[in-house]
Amino acid sequence: GVLVPSETATLLRQAERVVIFTGAGISAESGVPTFRDALTGLWERFDAAALATPEAFQDDPALVWGWYEWRRSAVQRVRPNAGHEAVAAIEARVPSSVVVTQNVDDLHERAGSPAPLHLHGSLFAPRCSACAHPAPLPDGPAEEPADGRRVPPPGCARCSAPLRPGVVWFGEALPEAVFESAVEAASSCDLLLTVGTSGLVYPAAEIPRVAARFGAAVIQVNPQETPLDPVADVNLRGPAAQVLPALVEAAWR
Ligand code: APR
Ligand code: ZN
Repeated sequence: GVLVPSETATLLRQAERVVIFTGAGISAESGVPTFRDALTGLWERFDAAALATPEAFQDDPALVWGWYEWRRSAVQRVRPNAGHEAVAAIEARVPSSVVVTQNVDDLHERAGSPAPLHLHGSLFAPRCSACAHPAPLPDGPAEEPADGRRVPPPGCARCSAPLRPGVVWFGEALPEAVFESAVEAASSCDLLLTVGTSGLVYPAAEIPRVAARFGAAVIQVNPQETPLDPVADVNLRGPAAQVLPALVEAAWR
């Protein structure tokens, strides 16, 4: 198993206000592809400009809607992993804890995290592309486009304009209130765990840097080196589904 230094375990055990900042890497061991991992990353296989921008949706709503339905169907077929569960265990133990995620999957929720802050939105919160009216998800499995076929987005119940995925696209602003809550939590925590993120995409990548600037201890969990290495006080080099449970075990054995 993974060896967690005792000082690191003490940092977590003594934390009173913790922020757990997550990226696609925490869902990797559930079978959800990350974006930038070699070979398997979504942006290694798909063109972000053609699928994850407002212009792409304007040009071809069915292609974009179909791609996100494919991603939603993939998430519905997998389960949270021990990393997500360890995050929920930390929230249960540390008096004040906030999960800030860049992920649009619902695996934190399904692992028991009560209210993760979704900086980049969610696959499970489509809305009208015109009047922003939130749309109920069709229950049952997502309508997955077979072999990349297009799926025309449903119409808004209120104004009949096409629905859009409830995710933040490149070039779009993050939900302001959510980002402000995340910055507030990061600037007042005494420990921030950054898990499974390449720390490349702003402004989300500001969050661990805000915590460090306000004097929090920062622990990074990632099998690779990232630009957050110098920001972290501790770098635990390993997969989240092994490292996080080992960290929780060492903190509250
Ligand atoms: N455990 C922990 N970390 C892992 C694991 C794992 N099992 N597998 C991979 N990783 C790490 C990779 O080393 C990488 O540093 O997860 C990170 C994933 O980085 P990205 O693919 O860039 O994902 P993320 O950082 O979440 O991307 C941020 O970019 O495209 C946008 O909106 C999208 O939210 C996303 C944002
Ligand atoms: Zn509408």
